[in-house]
Amino acid sequence: MLSLVKAKGNKSNHLFRQVARDTTGETYNPPEESEVVFAYEYILETGKKVLIGAASYTIALPTQTDPNEENYNHFLSFLFIKGHWQGLGYGKWLLNFIESDMMKTVRRPIHVESAIGSVEFFIKQGYTYSGRYTDCVCSGSPLFKTLCYMTKEPIITFCNNLNI
Ligand SMILES: CC(C)(COP(=O)(O)OP(=O)(O)OC[C@H]1O[C@@H](n2cnc3c(N)ncnc32)[C@H](O)[C@@H]1OP(=O)(O)O)[C@@H](O)C(=O)NCCC(=O)NCCS
Repeated sequence: MLSLVKAKGNKSNHLFRQVARDTTGETYNPPEESEVVFAYEYILETGKKVLIGAASYTIALPTQTDPNEENYNHFLSFLFIKGHWQGLGYGKWLLNFIESDMMKTVRRPIHVESAIGSVEFFIKQGYTYSGRYTDCVCSGSPLFKTLCYMTKEPIITFCNNLNI
């Protein structure tokens, strides 16, 4: 059974770096002041929980009204599922949790700079790829050498208020 644990602040950074290293071979820190969530799976045979993934994201500022300002949008900075656990639905699950957390605060677009190899994953989760990408010369991991800008628009729910 998957469990998700939210953390904030520098205390969780070492754990985040560990997941980043196990997943990509490189060390990444979550951006300052970002939300961090860790994914654990319970192993029946051992009775223990193992850390299988992590993500970091920044929630849009509800008081920001200018769409051109960076903090108008939600931003997913990192999403990692360790190799052994990939392809089992955990990434989708973790992303759903993050999106709900974002939309609870304010309904705004979500931006992500996806690794080129994960573009298809994000398309399956409703993100669109604008064709804009950047080659990151400073990236230690080949995984993040080319980053593709992707966006997911918030789902608008209509409320039919029928005052009959
Ligand atoms: C990208 C990542 C988070 C996906 O997590 P995951 O647990 O492997 O993905 P899921 O099992 O939840 O996959 C959900 C769907 O996306 C598809 N998918 C996942 N990764 C894919 C990929 N790289 N290319 C194409 N499709 C992919 C799955 O087949 C599945 O499809 P389905 O719903 O039709 O069955 C994970 O592979 C990872 O950590 N990769 C390395 C780091 C990275 O690139 N992170 C993203 C940018 S920060």
